[in-house]
Amino acid sequence: MSIDISQAKNDFKVHFGFAPELVSRAPGRVNIIGEHTDYNHGFVLPMAIERETLIAARRRGDRTLNAFAANLGASVEASLDNRVRDPRNSWIDYVLGVADELAKLDKPLTGADLMIVGDVPIGCGLSSSASLEMATLTLFEALGGFKIEGAEAPKLGQRVENCFLGLNTGIMDQFISRMGKRGHALFLDCRSHAYELVPVAFATAKFAIANTCVSRGLTSSKYNERVNECAEARAVMNAQLERDGTHLRDFSMDDLNACRSAMPDNVFRRARHVIGDNARTLAACGAMRAGQTAALGKLMNDGDASCREDYEITCPELDAMTAIARAIPGCHGARMTGAGFGGCTVNLVETNTLDQFGERLMAEYTAHTGIEGEMIVSSPAEGAGLAG
Ligand code: GLA
Repeated sequence: MSIDISQAKNDFKVHFGFAPELVSRAPGRVNIIGEHTDYNHGFVLPMAIERETLIAARRRGDRTLNAFAANLGASVEASLDNRVRDPRNSWIDYVLGVADELAKLDKPLTGADLMIVGDVPIGCGLSSSASLEMATLTLFEALGGFKIEGAEAPKLGQRVENCFLGLNTGIMDQFISRMGKRGHALFLDCRSHAYELVPVAFATAKFAIANTCVSRGLTSSKYNERVNECAEARAVMNAQLERDGTHLRDFSMDDLNACRSAMPDNVFRRARHVIGDNARTLAACGAMRAGQTAALGKLMNDGDASCREDYEITCPELDAMTAIARAIPGCHGARMTGAGFGGCTVNLVETNTLDQFGERLMAEYTAHTGIEGEMIVSSPAEGAGLAG
């Protein structure tokens, strides 16, 4: 548990003048491999991290959400019957978006006084948004006495992003935030939603996250641009091969190579990344099951090269962070993680070199970029639930 629950309950009491009735929580995540594959119906391998969003709440007798974001020191009063985005307080949009999707399903919504507090760095590729959505869903479920089962819960979170917020993201972040299990990564087939919990139990290595502390404002437009480029590759292959594939998952590398001259080079490279990363994710899952750190590290390095050269979602700071990491003894592999254009890297590092790795990586990153980075070492954490 990364946030002190008694402290959060106490802060709620100080703010509202009475104790909360319940506390819901949901973690952020780091994606080990399988980037931008989810909306192409491919494979991903994320794990939940010991950074989370927590919501302390007490039900009200009316239809009002009286919300306080402790990290921002900001308050908003919103009506459950008027679920519209608030350009001045975009954090409440995630709460209202979840309420909106629940209303469409005719689920009972309960007005509440609530306090949101979190330690997932915001806008750094560790899914602070998905953790807020899944903590909100858990809260409404508990207050309303209902449960959204299985993959329907993360799918609801994805609809919040796609319909309420206008970002064409896939299902990975909400899935891992809701379904993650302590000690495990989660291998997910984003087409069937079948998943396998894979123990993270290397005898001598751990995952270490490094935050470049750079976030690119362009993320949402560049993200949707990649989604469109994948759709273009699919359309060309359907036309050329007389097929009716709905996603890049329906095509092999041979299919793509056969259509290379029929599509723009950038579109070809986007599809090559996605098809290649699906294969790498399958292989990574095997390497992880077998505890093969060197093999997994190589797949992470190869995946990063593909994100950088073919998908073009890194930036100079991410490239510096991964290049420096790879040169440090004890580092098996390093790659950017999440949507890209800034944010974090994930590294597989020998446990007995972890301290020196962190110190050297941070020092050399600052010397190279002039920016202070941040190390986050986390074991795989538990998915969303009620806390205390
Ligand atoms: C963001 C999206 C996910 C996924 C990743 C990239 O985190 O929310 O659905 O597409 O980017 O892998």
